[in-house]
Amino acid sequence: MFRLGLRRAYATASECASPYCVKVSKAQRTVNGFVGAIGNTPLIRLNRVSEETGCDIYGKAEFMNPGGSVKDRAALYLVKEAEEKGLLTPGGTVVEGTAGNTGIGLAHVCRSKGYKCVIYMPDTQSQGKIDLLRLLGAEVYPVPAVAFENPQNYNHQAQRHAASLPNAVWTNQFDNTANRRAHIETTGPEIWSQLAGRVDAFTCATGTGGTLAGVTRYLKEVSDGRTECILADPPGSVLHSYIQSGGKLVERSGSSITEGIGQGRITDNLKPEVKLLNGSVHVSDEKSVEMVYRLLDEEGLYMGASSALNVVAAVEIARRIGPGKTVATVLCDGAYRYADRLFSKSWLEGKGLWGAVPEHLRKYAVLA
Ligand SMILES: Cc1ncc(COP(=O)(O)O)c(C=O)c1O
Repeated sequence: MFRLGLRRAYATASECASPYCVKVSKAQRTVNGFVGAIGNTPLIRLNRVSEETGCDIYGKAEFMNPGGSVKDRAALYLVKEAEEKGLLTPGGTVVEGTAGNTGIGLAHVCRSKGYKCVIYMPDTQSQGKIDLLRLLGAEVYPVPAVAFENPQNYNHQAQRHAASLPNAVWTNQFDNTANRRAHIETTGPEIWSQLAGRVDAFTCATGTGGTLAGVTRYLKEVSDGRTECILADPPGSVLHSYIQSGGKLVERSGSSITEGIGQGRITDNLKPEVKLLNGSVHVSDEKSVEMVYRLLDEEGLYMGASSALNVVAAVEIARRIGPGKTVATVLCDGAYRYADRLFSKSWLEGKGLWGAVPEHLRKYAVLA
């Protein structure tokens, strides 16, 4: 009797007026293991910036992936495609060169699927990152931080390590288009379906380019080209000037406090979709830092700087395309791994960014 009552409550949840009624959406389904929990993230309306611009601005809550970032999707597809191609079989090893979220995603996916995970990273990275990857079961090699052209660069070392082992793959997140495929098959369709096809614009920054390229490909196809897709770029990246100049690649110069984004070349993930982009927005570190604090104060969202940069770009695009439109972007990861920087007055002062934190929000900078 009780069971039947419950079942009825679930079945009619969408019309249920009672505050005790449990609403069960498809997103709250049971899933098969860690990898089943990747994706199907909520799309959060950012109320304050939406009110300010008269547009509906949404952030895809990628920080809610089980490994904590948008890179869980890429990690899953890099492994999945290696399996599909027969390059990785039970007991195999996954090797990647990464200092950030892709390593975390891969470490989780490998544990859940029973593979070994080997990560190469520049030895300039914090002990915290090395420890985290090791406690997730990865074998970590911090190696001297040398330029990409040098054969001892961490990416090349990762490639050689994989080549030296049987049943091992170098997942090569930058140029392996399984990364982009993750977003063509999952992130793009989720955004389209969550907004019931009302997506006037989409924007995000790029590291590998997988997210921007994959979502752009899907949204352009499904909207018949109507959704504007725009790259957001931090200082020190060459992509904004590449797009603004109609395809001139300049030497990389300058730097940014944002992590995981900014690029010095057109990766194989980005290459096929560059021509589909409608433009680009450059976002200064000052604006990204201000938005980190605003998101926390106004929306209760504790976001890393790449997510904040994406929201700054979304606001700029909303202002340009005018009220009544819908703009989507990506909330890539939380601020947890960056708190000792983003919420430290002395660190921000050292970067000349303390002035970017609005006075009434300085109370959040509680770390030394
Ligand atoms: C925090 C963060 N934001 C954004 C990105 C960019 O995503 P993509 O590599 O798909 O361009 C990354 C990539 O590592 C990241 O770690």
